[in-house]
Amino acid sequence: MSWLIKSSIGRKFVQSISGIFLILFLLFHASMNLVLIFNYETYDFLANDMLGANWWAIIGTIVIFFGFGVHIIYSIILTIQNRKARGNVRYASASKDNASWSSKNMFVLGLVILLFVLLHLYQMWYQMQYKEFFMIEGARHDSAILVEEIFSNVWMVVIYVASFIALWFHLTHGFWSALHTVGWNNDIWMKRIKAFGNVLASLICLAFIAVAVLMHLGYSNLLA
Ligand code: HEM
Repeated sequence: MSWLIKSSIGRKFVQSISGIFLILFLLFHASMNLVLIFNYETYDFLANDMLGANWWAIIGTIVIFFGFGVHIIYSIILTIQNRKARGNVRYASASKDNASWSSKNMFVLGLVILLFVLLHLYQMWYQMQYKEFFMIEGARHDSAILVEEIFSNVWMVVIYVASFIALWFHLTHGFWSALHTVGWNNDIWMKRIKAFGNVLASLICLAFIAVAVLMHLGYSNLLA
């Protein structure tokens, strides 16, 4: 098992598997958010009763945070490793190679997403699950109204949408790269996987954007 930590391919493998796990989490998260457009009561039931401070939800949260932790730590290790391996050649070849803009900027895009996640966790997860679990005064149980309050501020919508765009660039390259690493690298399948990854990333990010913008404009809880 030490190859997962010590070897270069092992590290890339861990980075890929944790990335695929996080994409599955985002697919679930974006789908659940769409409920906000239709019915607040159902959303509160899901976010608060099902995914509140019960043990199953807490274990789920720990697993998700672990996935983020591994992905972030390995991204730092791999970036340092790549820079060391390439040295100054990185600069010489940067203008010549035709790698996409996203692939060259995965670390910076990841950093933008990390800053967004920290803000987001403070605004939502900390106010709900964390405060409820640690019995801190003021825990919010009205998840839908909390999200509505945040998106009533146009600057929050701007920050969130800008982060979803960074997420789109990160996911389109990340999905393709992850499957390439785990062994799906013949010519025909790589083209299909690239197309599938682009569609998946677009669906996830469009769902996030739709919720933020529609809630700001008052098009939510439509089936109440
Ligand atoms: C319109 C966009 C989004 C909305 C409305 C939203 C809403 C929420 C809410 C209400 C919670 C708290 C749930 C609870 O504690 O029971 C939450 C948790 C969380 N969100 Fe988001 N979210 C959005 C986008 C994102 C994005 C893009 C990411 C990651 C890149 C993300 C990552 C997380 C994480 C890691 C948690 C904690 C997970 C957990 O408690 O298990 N969210 N979100």
